[in-house]
Amino acid sequence: MRRAWMGAAALALAVLAGCKVAEPGGFERGVVTTAKHRIFVGNKDQKNPLPSTPQTLADGKEAFSHYCVACHGLDGQNTGVPFAGHISPPIPSLASADVQQYTDGQLKWILDNGISPSGMPASKGILSDDELWSIVEYIRHLPQAGSLGEPEMYTH
Ligand code: HEC
Repeated sequence: MRRAWMGAAALALAVLAGCKVAEPGGFERGVVTTAKHRIFVGNKDQKNPLPSTPQTLADGKEAFSHYCVACHGLDGQNTGVPFAGHISPPIPSLASADVQQYTDGQLKWILDNGISPSGMPASKGILSDDELWSIVEYIRHLPQAGSLGEPEMYTH
């Protein structure tokens, strides 16, 4: 348990490095969200080239459980991620309206490029386009919060 926490703390520190520590106020956050949606996040009109099938969803869930679980939990809703709400910006639930209002193309863009200077990493060159598009499919069909349990890295 203790060791798991230290791992989590180290990860949280890595996430914190390079981002401001102060919690943004409600007004500031609203502006930032709007700016991200309108200006920075490109690729709005690109469609997911993968078919929306159980196989694509399964592939996305699998990739997500390797590359995204440490910060977003198995369910994409932060379940079991000890630092999710304690960093700035906090890690959003991927089921939230804020995230779901992005188009598929914008979600792919976010995964490719990450969000600087927050802890959200860029995956371009690390994951294949197919893996990233299957993850987009998974984000559109997230399971009920908590239904997949907690990430192993924090429970062992
Ligand atoms: C090291 C921790 C970390 C990892 C690993 C990580 N993320 Fe994130 N993610 C974040 C943080 C922090 C934010 C909040 C960024 C912000 O609001 O500026 C975020 C935000 C997001 C958003 C919402 C962006 C927005 O504008 O609201 C999506 C979608 C997302 N992540 C998907 C993923 C996917 C898919 C993966 C795996 C390929 C992943 N993340 C891996 C930390 C992480």
